[in-house]
Amino acid sequence: MSEESNLSRRKFLAKATVGIGGAITALIGIPAIIYVVGPVLKKEGDSGWMRIGPTSKVTPGTPTLFSIKIERETGWVTNQQDIMVYVYTDDGRNYAAMSNICTHLACRVRWIEERQEFFCPCHNGVFDKHGNVLAGPPPRPLDRFELKTENDEIFIKVG
Ligand code: FES
Repeated sequence: MSEESNLSRRKFLAKATVGIGGAITALIGIPAIIYVVGPVLKKEGDSGWMRIGPTSKVTPGTPTLFSIKIERETGWVTNQQDIMVYVYTDDGRNYAAMSNICTHLACRVRWIEERQEFFCPCHNGVFDKHGNVLAGPPPRPLDRFELKTENDEIFIKVG
């Protein structure tokens, strides 16, 4: 065998080794990188709007409770969370969405129809139908959600 043919075979084997090694690295490495970095780069749904129910369910003058389940992703962990929202309207055109979580120590408030107010049983916090504090220790009104209506459906923004 000539010296020249030996050299060329060596070059070929060296190049083939590098090529095969590169292909194996790409086959294993690219999916691994996507798996590791993917959740970090993944953007949340661009809108964040969640449909909670029809406007027809809300009687003007009476806060109406809606309940929705949302999934939150933190890295590789997905949690399901229940969100409860009181929707209120005076006129059937303008709506407000309020959290049912008390702004004092996060107990759940409930609407008391006879008294026309929200009541928090933990420390007797009281809110009016718009969520403003009337009595007790809550430091601020009930939190609001951004709300929109489309085709007689109510959507809130959860983020
Ligand atoms: S948690 Fe509601 S008044 Fe304290």
